[in-house]
Amino acid sequence: KILILDFGGQYSQLIARRVREFNVYSLIKGHDISLAEIKAIDPVAIIFSGGPDSVTAVGAPGVDQGVFELGIPILGICYGMQLMAQLLEGGKVEKAEQGEYGKADLEIFSQQNLFKDLENYSQVWMSHGDHVKEVPTGFKVVAQTETTTVAAMADFERNLYGVQFHPEVNHTVQGKKILHNFLFRIINARANWNMADYINEEVSRIRKQVGQGKVICGLSGGVDSAVASAIVHKAIGDQLTCIFVDHGLLRKGEAEQVKRTFGEEFNIPLVYVDAKARFLARLAGVQDPETKRKIIGDEFINVFDEEAEKIKDVRYLVQGTIYSDVIESGGTDKAATIKSHHNVGGLPEEMNLELVEPLHFLFKDEVRKIGEVLGLPSEIVWRQPFPGPGLAIRIIGPVDWDKLEILREADAIVQEEIRTAGLTREIWQSFAVLPDLRSVGVMGDERTYGYPIILRAVTSDDAMTADWARLPYEVMQSISTRIVNQVSEVNRVVYDITSKPPGTIEWE
Ligand code: XMP
Repeated sequence: KILILDFGGQYSQLIARRVREFNVYSLIKGHDISLAEIKAIDPVAIIFSGGPDSVTAVGAPGVDQGVFELGIPILGICYGMQLMAQLLEGGKVEKAEQGEYGKADLEIFSQQNLFKDLENYSQVWMSHGDHVKEVPTGFKVVAQTETTTVAAMADFERNLYGVQFHPEVNHTVQGKKILHNFLFRIINARANWNMADYINEEVSRIRKQVGQGKVICGLSGGVDSAVASAIVHKAIGDQLTCIFVDHGLLRKGEAEQVKRTFGEEFNIPLVYVDAKARFLARLAGVQDPETKRKIIGDEFINVFDEEAEKIKDVRYLVQGTIYSDVIESGGTDKAATIKSHHNVGGLPEEMNLELVEPLHFLFKDEVRKIGEVLGLPSEIVWRQPFPGPGLAIRIIGPVDWDKLEILREADAIVQEEIRTAGLTREIWQSFAVLPDLRSVGVMGDERTYGYPIILRAVTSDDAMTADWARLPYEVMQSISTRIVNQVSEVNRVVYDITSKPPGTIEWE
């Protein structure tokens, strides 16, 4: 077991994720854990995370000095390295004249142990205002950058290492190699942990948390809620009931897929609520996108609430929150708010249910792996992100059933062609938009006057920025031909070539 001590850094979970990537078991604990607890965990090595504080400040997060006497390797990252320097004899940390943020060029002087087989020069990711002025007794300076003289330090005898940069971040080109060296050269860790183990641990944790209590979940058709529900069901079986609110704004076939997968194949008690008419009635004539969102979010809560009421004695609610949602909403103590989340399914607090969150510490690709291990169909596991308000924000102007059906047909063709071309996974989102206008065309010898479909396909890492996808012409060609031929009322297809910014991914 690798123990990661968290000092409040943005990247603590990312360190855990990297260790998991090497199939090594790790666990994260707060820095204030006692020495006795650490001994009980009996880790083979410890990693100190980064953190936003200054080690020299009064009350800065520390660690029991006894960890250095355990005789196990320790790797300190950023704040973690500075803490090492502060606590060990002879070391000194002070405020740097110049902080270092972002990419930096690293020069390494040693090829020993942690630094074995690394290139001497490489790019690293830095984020610090303090620096190590003097290394503790027994340590050597192992690397530097232009602004930081101690960019890495090592006591090769005691296997204590510090790096000022962040090896867990992708921008640190040799980061994975360094972590690999730590795990397999220095501590000879066993690479025998995998996602099936994660599921088993989660299953016992959930059983402990809920006991005999009743649990509900909301299914949206998306991968996160699907995987979360499947794990919880594995843990507690029929104590779980899932509620699926069909607002009529889903893509073609999605409601059926959810019913089939969860209700039939997984045999999860499933309440299917046909709320199409309710949603459409409230959306009738509504033009403004934000009003649409508000109505949909609000009505979703109404319906969910009504259904949850019918199930007696519910005490827990499953949420498919994943780690990036936690960071983006500023959910960890220290990490800053990057984007406030706006998922439909933000359920009212008065419901007073305790949350069960089996994916809380996982990254999207890990959630997908778990979905695969659990045997969920690949259409769900590899589903592209889809907005909670669904097709309502892809119909410009008022939404009605006829327009929904036109958009569903056109969108299904987009999905099929993208899938056939093998592009689903590399494209972040691909979909059709139905604008509120018509144009003239000709079909056979007839004049037509129909809707255009706007084709939108973007590449992105996190939806914060995006670029329009360079779809192959043949793919665009077949999408266009099929839509115009097969979807009556549509006589034209156009492609949106706007990046984000200045555009957004959605049209509303
Ligand atoms: P934009 O259009 O802002 O979208 O570039 C960024 C990402 O968020 C999704 N999106 C939403 N998701 N409720 C959601 O749950 C919403 O109201 C909403 N609006 C946009 C969008 O699909 C993209 O992935």
